[in-house]
Amino acid sequence: MSTSASSSKLGALAGRFNELFPMDWELVRHAGAEPVPYHLKKWWFCLGGTAMVLFIVQVITGIMLAFYYVPSPDHAYASVETITHGVRYGWFIRSIHMWSSNFMIVAVFLHMLRVFFTRSYRNPRQLNWMVGVMLLGLTLTFGFTGYSLVYEQLSFWGATVGCNLAGALPLIGPWVGDFMRGGPEVGEQTLTRFYMLHVAILPVIAFILLGIHVMIIRLHGVTELQFEGEVITDDNRFFRFWPEHVTMEILVGVLLMYILTILALIFPADLGAQADPTTTPAHIKPEWYFYFNYRMLKLTTLKMSVALTGALGGVLFFWPFIDGWIEKRLGAKSDRIVVLIGTIAFLAFLGLTIWEAVAAH
Ligand code: HEM
Repeated sequence: MSTSASSSKLGALAGRFNELFPMDWELVRHAGAEPVPYHLKKWWFCLGGTAMVLFIVQVITGIMLAFYYVPSPDHAYASVETITHGVRYGWFIRSIHMWSSNFMIVAVFLHMLRVFFTRSYRNPRQLNWMVGVMLLGLTLTFGFTGYSLVYEQLSFWGATVGCNLAGALPLIGPWVGDFMRGGPEVGEQTLTRFYMLHVAILPVIAFILLGIHVMIIRLHGVTELQFEGEVITDDNRFFRFWPEHVTMEILVGVLLMYILTILALIFPADLGAQADPTTTPAHIKPEWYFYFNYRMLKLTTLKMSVALTGALGGVLFFWPFIDGWIEKRLGAKSDRIVVLIGTIAFLAFLGLTIWEAVAAH
């Protein structure tokens, strides 16, 4: 077949497709060509994209694991064992899922820090900051519920502590605790609930919140930043979202897959002893991203640590408005105060996390 004949056939096929699916492709092209500020050429200014890539890795590997995982207390641990030792490349997919979840949490934290320290949450982006805080809570809940599914001793008792913490919330605590456990004690129902949350409810909420987050970013555009001593000309102030920025994100994705593969090969996901609901282990430790919380619990009481976590979460959620109030009071000085507050909060988080990591008890 000649080249012109095949290209005319392709043209006819495209025309027919357009009839069946009458989309205005010019609009899509226009949306993709959105100019983004030049600083997004630096990876640490667009960590949100990295979190997004890792979320996609989680969805794909999570679906693969769900083919073999059995969400019942009698079979959960055995099914994870089968995935790890019996299913071809099961250990690899499980290890990528484990490593990628940790990377995603780090990426979300770092993304939040960059938004905070560049004060990109200020008017009119307050709503998107709040959606972001919900995404942070969601990412942590993904980690908490996912870890519990393994049904090994530590993850089982970690889930028990998590339910007790939720149960100590003021007013709604007993209801939330019972809802999570499926009754007054962690038991048969708990695993099914965590599974439903992890594979159905949280992903749906994540897609909705991510959709809103990206839509708001698109509507406002990414904040333009100008750093001291930086010369920006009209020529290099912006570059195109498609194909330049997307290409960069794809390269970051490829690099991440490379690093995740190496980590999965050297440090594959392991499997501790099977959960024994009748024997509390001597030392319970949650995943590292809850260490700060766990240390707070050890330093105070159950109720006090829950109240502190709630208060800190509230401050984080409403931070753009608190920042606005500080700015109104202090004017230009507020820049330094906000950086100071952010630095102290971050160091306190880091300090409690490291303390819990190195402490034997
Ligand atoms: C699953 C988690 C998240 C994903 C996938 C995500 C994704 C993104 C992406 C792709 C951007 C565009 C620019 C950039 O990458 O920095 C962005 C911007 C933004 N994100 Fe997130 N984000 C997440 C969580 C958060 C969190 C935890 C916060 C804050 C608490 C947040 C607040 C914001 C704000 C305010 C912007 C606008 C920044 C600007 O205009 O410069 N996001 N996010």
